[in-house]
Amino acid sequence: MITLRVTKERTIGQRDLMIYGQFIEHFHRQIYDGIYDPGNPLSDEDGFRTDIIEAMKQIKVPILRWPGGCFVSSYHWKKAVGPSRTPFFDKAWRVEDPNTFGTDEYIRMCRKIGCAPYICTNAGTGTAEEMSDWVEYCNLENEGEFAKWRIENGFEQPHKVKYWSVGNENYGWWEIGAKSAEEWGLLVKEAAKMMKHVDPEAELSAAALSDMDWNMNLLKNCGQFLDWISIHEYWDMMPNENNPADYDACMAYTDHIDHQVDEVRGILQAMKLDKKIKIAFDEWNLRSWHHPNVHTLKQGVGKESYVTPRNLNDINATYTMADAVFTACFLNAMNRNCDIVGMANFAPILNTRGCIYSYPKGIVLRSTYHVFDLYVNVLGDVIVDSWVPEDLPMLDVTTKDGKPKTVPALDLLATSYTDREGMAFSVVNKDPENAQEVTLSVPGLKGKAVLHTINGPDKDSYNDVDHTEVVTTVKEIGAFDENMTITVEPHSVNVVEIC
Ligand code: AHR
Repeated sequence: MITLRVTKERTIGQRDLMIYGQFIEHFHRQIYDGIYDPGNPLSDEDGFRTDIIEAMKQIKVPILRWPGGCFVSSYHWKKAVGPSRTPFFDKAWRVEDPNTFGTDEYIRMCRKIGCAPYICTNAGTGTAEEMSDWVEYCNLENEGEFAKWRIENGFEQPHKVKYWSVGNENYGWWEIGAKSAEEWGLLVKEAAKMMKHVDPEAELSAAALSDMDWNMNLLKNCGQFLDWISIHEYWDMMPNENNPADYDACMAYTDHIDHQVDEVRGILQAMKLDKKIKIAFDEWNLRSWHHPNVHTLKQGVGKESYVTPRNLNDINATYTMADAVFTACFLNAMNRNCDIVGMANFAPILNTRGCIYSYPKGIVLRSTYHVFDLYVNVLGDVIVDSWVPEDLPMLDVTTKDGKPKTVPALDLLATSYTDREGMAFSVVNKDPENAQEVTLSVPGLKGKAVLHTINGPDKDSYNDVDHTEVVTTVKEIGAFDENMTITVEPHSVNVVEIC
C-alpha cells in the first residue's frame, strides 16, 4: 500500500479551466450530420442538436477550437458568411463542404454551449491579410468593410473572439501549404502583426514542435507577438489502418505522457519566454483519427477507399476504459503543468474519436466523456503539491509494437478549491486486474469522503446505443480525519472528494 502525502498549503498553481477544452473540425460527422443537423427533430430553430448542446454544457466546455485541423489550410472564411453560400471542394479531406456552417453559425453554437470561441486560421493557402480580415469581421465594432459585413449579416455586436491560432500543423508535409521553419517564422510574424493591429487584445497561438530549429525560428521571429504556442499529440496512430491498441498497449502510452510539455517548456525557458507564452495543447487524443489515403502521397481514388473508411471511427467498442484511464492520466499531467499549460483541446469533442457519439435519434456518452464530466464538476481548481515516499506499484505492459515496458500502476493528483474548503484527489488505477490501496494523508483536513468512480465490468467495457457499461458511481465512504485508506477498483478512474 502507498501513502499520498499532501501539505495542502503547498500549491503548484491554479489550473485554467481551458485545459478541459475541446476541438471540432469540418471532418466526417463532427459538424454536418453532427452538431449541425437542420431538419432533425432533435435540432433547434438554428439547426443545432439540442441533445448534443446539453451534453456539452454538462461538461462545461470552456473553449472550442474550430474549424480545423487540416481542413483549415485551404479554407476561405469569406465564402461561408452572408446569405449566399457556395459549396466548395475541401482539398484536405476531399469532400464537398456545403459552406452552410461558417463563422456566424460557429459563434451562435459557442453561445448556446456557453464556451469561448477559438478560431484556427488558414496559414496554408491563406494570407496574413485574410487572417486579419477575419479578426476585423469578428472583433471590430463597425469600422471598415468586414465589420460592416458582419452587421449586414445580422450581427450588430462584435463576436469578440479572443483566441486565434495562426495556422494548424504547417510544419507537416501532409498539411496543405506546409512551410519551412524560416517561412513559418516570417508568415506568423506578419500575420500576428496584422491581427494585433486589428485587435491588440486578441491572444495568438502558432504551431510549435518539440524541435529546436522550428521553435527557435518561430520564437525568434515572433515570440514578441505570441501569447500561446500550440502543440498536438495522438498516441495510438491509426490514420491508415484502423487497428486500435489494446488496453495493455494503451497503458504503455501513459509513460511520460507530458514529454512535449517538458521539451517546449525548456525551449521557452531558454528563450526567457516562459512567463509570457503559455502552451496550448490544442489537439490531443489517445487515438488518432482514421482517414486512410489522404494524409499520404497516394490519394484514394474511389470514395470507398478514402471516405467510407471514416465510418470506422464510429465503432463505439473502440473507446473503452483504456481511453478513460489514459484521458485521466493526460488531464492529471496538464493539471500538474498548470504553470505553463493554459489550454488543452480534446480532438474532437463529437464523433470521430470524440467523447460524444451522435446518431439521428440520440447520443452516446463514450467512456472519455465521463472523465471530463467528473474532472470539470468535482476536481478542484488549485493544484496541490503531493508526493509518495514509497515506490509506486509498477505495471508490466507491452507496447503496440510488442516491446515490454513498465509504468506506474497509479496516477495521483491532489487538488483544493479557490472558492471553498475541502479537497479532491484523482486516483487512477491502470492495473487491469488488481485493485490498489492508497492512503491519503493530509494534516488538518477533516470532512465527509465521497468516492466517485468511473468504471465498467472489465477493462474493455464501452458504451454504445442501447449498451451502457461505463458509468460513474458515487458513494459516501466515511469521515476523513487527516488520513483515509481507500481501495480503487482495477482499470478505474476515481476522484475522492473531501467536503
Ligand atoms: O487526424 C486529424 C488531423 O490530425 C487534424 O485535422 C490535424 O490537425 C491533425 O494532423
